[in-house]
Amino acid sequence: MTLHDLELEEVGRDFGAVRVLDRVSCTIAGGAITGLIGPNGAGKSTLFDLIAGSRSPSRGRIRFAGRRIEHLPPYRRHRAGIARGFQVARPFLGLSVLENVMLAAPGQAGELFWRNWLTPGAVARGERAVAADAMALLEFVGLADLARAEAAVLSGGQRKLLDLARLLLGRPRLILLDEPGAGVAPALLERIMERIAAVNRRGVGFLIIEHNLDLVMRLCSRVLVMAEGRILTAGTAEEVRADPRVARAWLGP
Ligand SMILES: Nc1ncnc2c1ncn2[C@@H]1O[C@H](COP(=O)(O)OP(=O)(O)OP(=O)(O)O)[C@@H](O)[C@H]1O
Ligand SMILES: [Mg+2]
Repeated sequence: MTLHDLELEEVGRDFGAVRVLDRVSCTIAGGAITGLIGPNGAGKSTLFDLIAGSRSPSRGRIRFAGRRIEHLPPYRRHRAGIARGFQVARPFLGLSVLENVMLAAPGQAGELFWRNWLTPGAVARGERAVAADAMALLEFVGLADLARAEAAVLSGGQRKLLDLARLLLGRPRLILLDEPGAGVAPALLERIMERIAAVNRRGVGFLIIEHNLDLVMRLCSRVLVMAEGRILTAGTAEEVRADPRVARAWLGP
């Protein structure tokens, strides 16, 4: 096991009487870019919910860096190094692009309120540090020019880049991206792929749900294929593309 492997063991999830995930077992290698593909309704986003903690598994075990996490609330998993992007990026439209990134800083809300009351100077310094960090990340994703603009002006692709900056603020070890290529114009798609690769070169792992198979082929060293709540097969991009079961899963029997 490398340091930040994610291991799923017989993971299942039911919604009422419907078994949406069934005995999902796999290891997502730490520091790698892994693809997760499969037809609509296969259970991909639900699997992200179970990994990030917004839903609990009905069965099974999940380990990250060797530790059991399936019982932990989302913020504890985030603190352990797992960051999750959503299928539809929804920034706070009335806030600036910079503020949207700053909001992702850990230790917000109540904690900040009490610190503010007890040591206001320390909070101001802390906020300046977060703002500097957030600004550096906006430069990294190519949105620095828009830092003061309202998030409402961003295109679909720019929102995905904002989301990436937001996710990076917590210095995660594993980033879950749900369709980073969806609704993104070609020029920005290039930039998103290139930035994902750049983050990965610094040792951060990715698990990427994506319907754009070109993106998957280019970025992912390994691909998991899901269908009807199970892992159908796994392998290199070329291997899964050549697997007749994969084509059948999309086209039906
Ligand atoms: N809250 C819920 N209650 C009941 N069923 C749900 C719930 N959320 C998801 N499902 C069902 O679980 C199955 C898997 O959904 P999920 O969103 O995980 O699929 P997906 O692979 O991400 O699909 P897509 O590619 O369309 O995003 C679907 O059949 C869906 O209808
Ligand atoms: Mg989905």
